[in-house]
Amino acid sequence: MSPSVRASTSPSGRPELSGYAEELIRGRRAVRAFRGDVVAQETMRAIFSLAGAAPSNSNAQPWQVEVVSGALRDRLADSLQAAHAARRVSVDFPYSEDMYSPVQQGRRTDFGARLYGALGIGRDDHAARGAYDAESLRFYGAPHVAFLFVSDRADARLAADVGAYLQTLLLAMTAYGVDSCPQGLLSFYADTVRDELGISTGKLLVGVSFGYADAAAPVNQVAAERAALEATTTFHG
Ligand SMILES: Cc1cc2nc3c(=O)[nH]c(=O)nc-3n(C[C@H](O)[C@H](O)[C@H](O)COP(=O)(O)O)c2cc1C
Repeated sequence: MSPSVRASTSPSGRPELSGYAEELIRGRRAVRAFRGDVVAQETMRAIFSLAGAAPSNSNAQPWQVEVVSGALRDRLADSLQAAHAARRVSVDFPYSEDMYSPVQQGRRTDFGARLYGALGIGRDDHAARGAYDAESLRFYGAPHVAFLFVSDRADARLAADVGAYLQTLLLAMTAYGVDSCPQGLLSFYADTVRDELGISTGKLLVGVSFGYADAAAPVNQVAAERAALEATTTFHG
């Protein structure tokens, strides 16, 4: 079904775009196997320009975006894997499993079972899971990766702005037919990323691998379910 702009307008007087929004937002999926085809420079410029329309507190736009392709992308993948093997972890935003509630942990477990199940990796096969994580530092084979940094003195509030940028970027990619995978794991090697890119400023929040999906890969068939509306949202008044 292709969406269409309904003839009616919303109470705001703007055209009704929900059909497009349903298709765009629900049509985005995290992709974990890419073909080698590169994204045209012009398309990349259009995507990142559109992503810059993201909202931010007082319009401060506290994001710093570094897009990496080509030989530097390959060298960075090597360095990330070397850092991972040597356990040279450097995080700008602390991470702990404890931050998840039991319900959230349950959702993570369910998702992990689907993901590793599609890969044929057993629940307790920690070695295979570890090897898969290490391999993911090659950006799942994507020819490009974008790193989203938050300005140096950032706390959670500014990181939230960059979160808004992240989703806007993912949707802009989807709109242009480009597939993506946000990868928090890449932010565990922030010093390695900064060193390879020759930059000294910014706190690394997340990396986004992008390109064109290998549609035949079983891992790209994994669907992540969402909680029921009532589980996360309360309407007051
Ligand atoms: C901030 C953030 C970090 C993520 N980190 C990773 C990651 O390190 N590796 C990975 O394979 N997927 C990662 N993901 C993708 C999530 O697993 C995925 O978005 C979630 O399971 C929902 O699936 P969907 O994006 O296909 O709807 C991340 C997503 C977000 C938003």
